[in-house]
Amino acid sequence: MTDSKLWGGRFAKSTDKLVEDFHSSISFDQILYKYDIAGSIAHAAMLGRQGIISADEAARLTQGLKEILADIDAGKVAFEVGAEDIHMNIEKILTERVGEVGKKLHTARSRNDQVALDIRLYLMAETDAVQQLLLKLLRVLLDLAAEHKASVMAGYTHLQKAQPITFGHHMLAYFQMFRRDYERLADCKKRTNLLPLGSCALATTTFPIDRQFVADELGFAGICENSLDGVSDRDFIVEFINAAALIMVHLSRLSEEIVLWSSNEFGYITLDDGYSTGSSIMPQKKNPDVAELVRGNSGRVFGHLLGTLTMLKGLPLAYNKDMQEDKEALFDTVDTVKKSLLVFAPMLATMRVNVSKMHERAKGGFINATDAADYLAARGVPFREAHAVIGRLVKYAEDKGVGLEDLSLDEFHRFSPVFGEDVYDYIKIENCVAARNIPGGPALPAVAAAIKSGENWLAAQK
Ligand code: ARG
Repeated sequence: MTDSKLWGGRFAKSTDKLVEDFHSSISFDQILYKYDIAGSIAHAAMLGRQGIISADEAARLTQGLKEILADIDAGKVAFEVGAEDIHMNIEKILTERVGEVGKKLHTARSRNDQVALDIRLYLMAETDAVQQLLLKLLRVLLDLAAEHKASVMAGYTHLQKAQPITFGHHMLAYFQMFRRDYERLADCKKRTNLLPLGSCALATTTFPIDRQFVADELGFAGICENSLDGVSDRDFIVEFINAAALIMVHLSRLSEEIVLWSSNEFGYITLDDGYSTGSSIMPQKKNPDVAELVRGNSGRVFGHLLGTLTMLKGLPLAYNKDMQEDKEALFDTVDTVKKSLLVFAPMLATMRVNVSKMHERAKGGFINATDAADYLAARGVPFREAHAVIGRLVKYAEDKGVGLEDLSLDEFHRFSPVFGEDVYDYIKIENCVAARNIPGGPALPAVAAAIKSGENWLAAQK
């Protein structure tokens, strides 16, 4: 009875049902089946090549594994909780199908290096998928930047009007964030791209295995150089979740802006009906639920980051069962970041930017005050003094209920004799933007250069 477990030999009693349910991971690790089978096929081929099993045995194992893969793909395989995890489920099915030779597959291997291998293969594929979604979002942001490179908008600090920019310039800020996210993923992929197999339980094996062959078969760039580390390392998972957490931070900040901008108070954008939802009681409502949900979903990923770090921090080398807890955190992170990116790009691509309203709203709030101070500073007034003069001027205009541009030259002169007629042009909102023609700035030529650099970067990622 106890022998029905692949490890049942030394047990006199079967596992309590409660324990079986508690420690089984098949309900969630079954999504690793493709990678588990790919790893087993490479391992079987290596065992055959090294003469550890015969060539014929290796061929039969490979054939059996391929058939299991096709059957799982076709939904014809039911996994068992009693077989614990995806690794033992597949080994059990294999042995049922190919007979005794199935029991040779696990020679010179442990589930400890097997699971580490599976997650690495899974994560390599999923990292690529997330990167592709990021590229789609980056494309949309760059298109929006190009379309709105001259659409004037208020720039904010402390959510108070600060200095005028353009909507295109604002979109380019997000382009930079998501570009870094893409590069961060590419960087952590380098450390994921190493073969742990051959570490076995912790101390490699007495068999003459060929780890490089397996690495080449599976397309790894190299092998983990220490067997204890090979089965204990989950840094690559933490790095990925960290990269995903930053993607969610960036999506969440943009979500917050989408929510604000689509409000009646701002009115900068109108979301497409297909990307908004209504209220069951208030007939007028059109809510930015997608942005809100993405903002809300970010918390899950931050939780997974902290959860995984905490799970790892007290573990002695090498494998500990605690590490089984890496999976749901990772899988949910992958799902969350993918579905957020998937819906976000078309939401942005379909929204309408209300250019004239945005321009109109940029005018209030003394957004040209820095320019007025710069006007004086450019004419020899020390900037700190110019700042104080304009501060007093703002107070005066505010009490009067008008903007700086509405004051007469006489009024300007009451605060400084340096003002001339040309101050009006200087503090015109379009001119405030145009005057900031500095690399990285909002003026049209600077934004055009940033778009060009973005295009070059995107083209290089294909
Ligand atoms: N299901 C396990 C996990 O996800 C596989 C490794 C189990 N190894 C062991 N010695 N119990 O971590």
